[in-house]
Amino acid sequence: MSLINFTIDGQPVAAQDGQSLLQAATAAGLDLPHLCASTRDGFAPMGSCRTCLVEVEGEAELVPACRHRVRTGLAVRTDTPRAARVRRLAVSLLASEMSAAAKARHPDTPFLDLVARTGADPDRFGHRAAGRPADASHPAIVLDPEACIRCGKCRAGCRDVQVNGVIALAGRGDGIHVTFDAGMAMGESNCASCGECAQLCPTGALAPKALERAGGRTAVTAKGETVCPFCSVGCRV
Ligand code: FES
Repeated sequence: MSLINFTIDGQPVAAQDGQSLLQAATAAGLDLPHLCASTRDGFAPMGSCRTCLVEVEGEAELVPACRHRVRTGLAVRTDTPRAARVRRLAVSLLASEMSAAAKARHPDTPFLDLVARTGADPDRFGHRAAGRPADASHPAIVLDPEACIRCGKCRAGCRDVQVNGVIALAGRGDGIHVTFDAGMAMGESNCASCGECAQLCPTGALAPKALERAGGRTAVTAKGETVCPFCSVGCRV
């Protein structure tokens, strides 16, 4: 397969045809900010969170690195003031989806890492109202809806990676929320307990009960770090 040569922040990068900028950057060891994308097999980029926006020479608009295909000769800049400002804004807006209490309940998550990394202000646009009850009906996973930023990663993981299709986003506008089998309690749904959703969730909204109890983070990043109580079919950590 022929290689595509382009640059990111002036650094030469060789990518495979068909890769996204984010995939190519990750393969080259560069750590671009992103949130709703995943490297899991079968996970199609949604392009919904806009935290991976970068500048591409010749393009008037910023482009999402997770959905923009590499092309020979592209000159990509991640470090411009405009890209940084817009990513900061996107992250600040996402942060307003969480209640203040949920931010305090889940202090050690990939999302709050991204808040810190981008310099976003998690309080700039206020907080969602508290009072959405948790769903603790499942034996191994708990849903804290106040921590949900409605990024859709859990749905994509359940549907596209595990091909379970139990999780959906229902409702409209401010009422959009995670559901299981179109409105059942998680513990009564056809959830296969694979743990994919909890592993993908960047905010701790869906988390293994064992990690919740231990106060641990919800995204396992390296083999051997997990205290996951699940079966062997899901996250493969
Ligand atoms: Fe690219 Fe979310 S990671 S839009």
